[in-house]
Amino acid sequence: MMGLVQFVSLCAFASAALALSTDGSFEPANFNITAALIANGISPEAIPDTQTLNERSSLGTCTVACRSLKTIFGSSRLLNQGSTGYTNFTGAYWSAQQNSVRPGCVFTPTKAVEVSTAVLISRLTQCPFAVKGGGHAAFAGSSSIEGGITIALQNFKRIEPSADGKTVDIGPGNRWLDVYQTLEPQGLNAVGGRIFSVGVPGLILGGGISFFSNKHGWACDNVESYELVTASGKILTVSYTSYPDLYWALRGGGNNFGVVTNFKLTAYPQGKMWGGGRVYTNASFSAALDAIYNFATTGSPTDPEAAQFISFGYEQGFGPLASAQLEYGKPIANAPVFADFNAIPSVQSTTAIQYQSNITITLNGGVPDGARETYWDASFKADRHLFTFLVDTFYALLPAVVDAAGLLPTISIQPITAGQLVGMQKNGGNALGLDPAGGPYFIMNMASMWTDPADDVRVLKFHADVLERVKVEAQKRGLDNDFIYQNYASQFQDVFSSYGKDNQKRLVAVSRKYDPKQVFQKLQPGYFKLEGGAPNPDML
Ligand SMILES: Cc1cc2nc3c(=O)[nH]c(=O)nc-3n(C[C@H](O)[C@H](O)[C@H](O)COP(=O)(O)OP(=O)(O)OC[C@H]3O[C@@H](n4cnc5c(N)ncnc54)[C@H](O)[C@@H]3O)c2cc1C
Ligand SMILES: *[C@@H]1O[C@H](CO)[C@@H](O)[C@H](O)[C@H]1NC(C)=O
Ligand SMILES: *[C@@H]1O[C@H](CO)[C@@H](O)[C@H](O)[C@H]1NC(C)=O
Ligand SMILES: *[C@@H]1O[C@H](CO)[C@@H](O)[C@H](O)[C@H]1NC(C)=O
Ligand SMILES: *[C@@H]1O[C@H](CO)[C@@H](O)[C@H](O)[C@H]1NC(C)=O
Repeated sequence: MMGLVQFVSLCAFASAALALSTDGSFEPANFNITAALIANGISPEAIPDTQTLNERSSLGTCTVACRSLKTIFGSSRLLNQGSTGYTNFTGAYWSAQQNSVRPGCVFTPTKAVEVSTAVLISRLTQCPFAVKGGGHAAFAGSSSIEGGITIALQNFKRIEPSADGKTVDIGPGNRWLDVYQTLEPQGLNAVGGRIFSVGVPGLILGGGISFFSNKHGWACDNVESYELVTASGKILTVSYTSYPDLYWALRGGGNNFGVVTNFKLTAYPQGKMWGGGRVYTNASFSAALDAIYNFATTGSPTDPEAAQFISFGYEQGFGPLASAQLEYGKPIANAPVFADFNAIPSVQSTTAIQYQSNITITLNGGVPDGARETYWDASFKADRHLFTFLVDTFYALLPAVVDAAGLLPTISIQPITAGQLVGMQKNGGNALGLDPAGGPYFIMNMASMWTDPADDVRVLKFHADVLERVKVEAQKRGLDNDFIYQNYASQFQDVFSSYGKDNQKRLVAVSRKYDPKQVFQKLQPGYFKLEGGAPNPDML
């Protein structure tokens, strides 16, 4: 039972002018990559000669790119195929699917300018790249690239609150546990992930749902500034005042605008909190759905400190189970906002007054590295009937996969509360396209782990089928909402069109302005791109 319990709980303007070139564009049409590399301090002899690149490309552009990085930075920054370091690295993603990818080389920079050089080398040689933060995206190629350069940010380990405790600089090489364990002794917190091993950068760049989101919005709504390596290698400090368009785009834009080498997050005073998980058998499903519905609609506005979501799953050898995550920002047990859940008998509970780090540690127990994984999601208006419909549909279709080896299938209801929607409006709003007037919404996210690749197709199809049926029901009842949450989306889903036509257009315009050659669309092909649909449009 523990495995399921833990697993299902997952779940201005002035400085802008400075960066413009003489022709008024961010990157001029005659941008000289070699000159930019020299400006980064790279000696001309170490830069691949574009004249001879064509002849040398019999070697493969990526062989040239990886060799150049080695010449420039030495072997300590490069993990090459066949080395133990490379094997360790490529085997250390969260999902088995990502572990199966074999990059040409792995580059481990220590400074933003080194990331800039890697992006420029990729441009010069046309060898594609991927960027890895915590490596928790589920599908293959999200943060690694077959044959290309994987830029691994593991050395960016800064966690440094400002002297006044109002902000904290966090490097993209951190996991959320690092963040919480560093900040808690100082009485501080930042809005971030709920399971400790998840990476800081991917979570923030896609949105980032936190235990504190009812009060502060999502993680992306609590970024004061980003240090961003752009396509032309320029390193910008992107804030609401310095580059408002790029700042907006980064709030939900994923990996499409550059490589973030530092996040300056808002810091909040925080001591111990209350929270944990409670497990219910199917005799209580209806009462549990009432409870989460009441929280999503009338409960959450009464108390900004509260967070709740619920997951339904199936544990082989046991049967259907639900697990609610109940959290409260103050060290107060069973606050009135949890009254509905408190009235339901649970078969197991881990709720306690403790630090956030402890809660994230408990949750991590159920999400081991190295299994086959898939994530899927959709969003709808909060509706009690639809909650029952989606749970029933999940269990009705489950027999198609229930015997798959090591299967742990889940479906969750994560309210997007009125408080979250208010938090999203800060500093010009984010790119996600969630209209507060249509709320409250909820995210229906499905996640499964299993072990045998022979079951891939039927497991993926199970998720697609549940999603499709719930979508049809929601459309019929006027409850459908376009938004697909990037961080829970599968490779078969089109995230950016789900942000709405206007937002998608605006994102594309920002991308063309700061990345006219579309480096982050073409040379970094993995994960969700701004245009062109789902990463894998073919299957299912
Ligand atoms: C066990 C588990 C628990 C989770 N819990 C939560 C949760 O509580 N709340 C929530 O909202 N989501 C949650 N998620 C989803 C999570 O936010 C995504 O999986 C996210 O992509 C993970 O980020 P990462 O850095 O670990 O991933 P990675 O796989 O390293 O990166 C994901 C994407 O971001 C890009 N990227 C990474 N770093 C950078 C950078 N510095 N600059 C530009 N692009 C970059 C990568 O190229 C890749 O495309 C959870 C996922 C898992 C597996
Ligand atoms: C690009 O810059 C390099 C180094 O300054 C110079 O040698 C080269 O001629 C430039 N290329 C073009 C096309 O201007
Ligand atoms: C590879 O991983 C093993 C086991 O975790 C570790 O002992 C070893 O030092 C690692 N080697 C390298 C080169 O990273
Ligand atoms: C609960 O699940 C069990 C085992 O799958 C099943 O036999 C029972 O009918 C279910 N009960 C309810 C109330 O749905
Ligand atoms: C929380 O975790 C810390 C270690 O990170 C541990 O020392 C402490 O005992 C834990 N507290 C609770 C309440 O579990």
